[in-house]
Amino acid sequence: MKHKQLKQFPNNFLWGASTSAYQVEGAWDEDGKGPSIIDVKRIPEGTTDYKVASDHYHRYKEDVKLMAEMGFKAYRFSIAWTRIFPEGTGEINQKGIDFYNNLINELLKYNIEPIVTMYHFDMPLALDKKGGWGNRETVDAFETYAKVLFENYGDRVKYWLTINEQNMMILHGSAILGKDGENMEKELYQQNHHMLVAQAKVMKLCHEMLPQAKIGPAPNISYIYPATSKPDDVLAAQNFSAIRNWLYLDVAVFGRYNNLAWSFLEERDAIPSIQEGDMEILKAGKPDFIAFNYYSTKTVEAALDGENVKNDTGDQELAVGEAGVYKGHTNPNLPKNDFGWEIDPVGFRTTLREIYSRYHLPLIITENGLGAFDTLEEGDIVNDPYRINYLRAHMEQIQLAITDGVDVFGYCPWSAIDLISTHQGSKKRYGFIFVNRDEFDLKDLRRVRKQSFYWYQNVIKTNGAEL
Ligand code: BG6
Repeated sequence: MKHKQLKQFPNNFLWGASTSAYQVEGAWDEDGKGPSIIDVKRIPEGTTDYKVASDHYHRYKEDVKLMAEMGFKAYRFSIAWTRIFPEGTGEINQKGIDFYNNLINELLKYNIEPIVTMYHFDMPLALDKKGGWGNRETVDAFETYAKVLFENYGDRVKYWLTINEQNMMILHGSAILGKDGENMEKELYQQNHHMLVAQAKVMKLCHEMLPQAKIGPAPNISYIYPATSKPDDVLAAQNFSAIRNWLYLDVAVFGRYNNLAWSFLEERDAIPSIQEGDMEILKAGKPDFIAFNYYSTKTVEAALDGENVKNDTGDQELAVGEAGVYKGHTNPNLPKNDFGWEIDPVGFRTTLREIYSRYHLPLIITENGLGAFDTLEEGDIVNDPYRINYLRAHMEQIQLAITDGVDVFGYCPWSAIDLISTHQGSKKRYGFIFVNRDEFDLKDLRRVRKQSFYWYQNVIKTNGAEL
């Protein structure tokens, strides 16, 4: 649809950017922090670990000052569960509480709205050893952790996100470390169910404890294209969409499992065991908004029964496959970034429209961005026009979606500052702020404003009138 006149971004639009604790903080074992699964995970050869990352733990004041200079209205970050509860449960670590108190206060000093993710991939190791999300007790541990966050930060934090990209953890098996059950899918979807129950409990608790606050899920949502107009390809796209997207949002919003996803689980003998009362819990937890991460659309075609289509590299943006259900397909109409991810700004608008028409809840984008190899030039210059082009093209589509009538209240691209990527170390950069370090040489970790920093500063200053 072509609009004669575009609607403006709303006046109080939350322009900002995102990070996650383990990818940016460093200080992995300082001030009483306990180990998480990230601290023991197998690091791909040639890439760094997460021990120092961007050293944000020690430099958060400088980082927040730079965010304020860009004009951020919001900053989405995650809290490391193991800073608050080193063992995942039990003793609280006051120094961990203090760190996030200081960070939140620093943000508010500059009128930057804190948007807090409670869980971003970093399961406490102590809980993982007892089964992680596969163990029902982790649901209670998560609720207790959430309660402590609400008690300590609820007077200042108005926006809460429950679990980051639960769908990617399940789809790519990254929620479980080193567990080889007989039926991995059953184990995974049991973990999934526990996360959904934990999320619902925490959304309810948030509303009880903090009536003014808002809370929502934060999955990675992508519109799914059929590879052709062949009816079987269209069915495959619906299948994948149900398994990848709607399974998660239907439970979060409606408190019920998506029928297609459920029938997929039945076929795979992967129905989770559901305790008495669970469905009531799922129904009782209601989100106030939907936060979602978007990097690209996915394209699939029909997959024959028994065909080997799994091909999972572990990369969250490369479509996988399921025999008899769907098969990943490269979209010939889309360019790719340096890491093989397709770039599809128009698909962003499609995704925004689709989510809104299904759920009619306000939307905020909590990740979107371009991972690239940036170069620090002489005189502390980083030219990243490719990132500006990517972000601009996506912002244009947000404005079109707003004009389509979609209620979007914020945009927090990935990432505020360079950080360690999930698979490709520090060389895959996303930030507006360059961090001077290499994969294994920490150099001086100095912060450098990229070209995109100044560009985004003007976008925010003009509330998106100048993109
Ligand atoms: C999202 C995650 O999947 O994508 C982030 O929530 C991640 O943690 C981001 O960093 C970009 O992916 P990658 O693999 O390039 O770091």
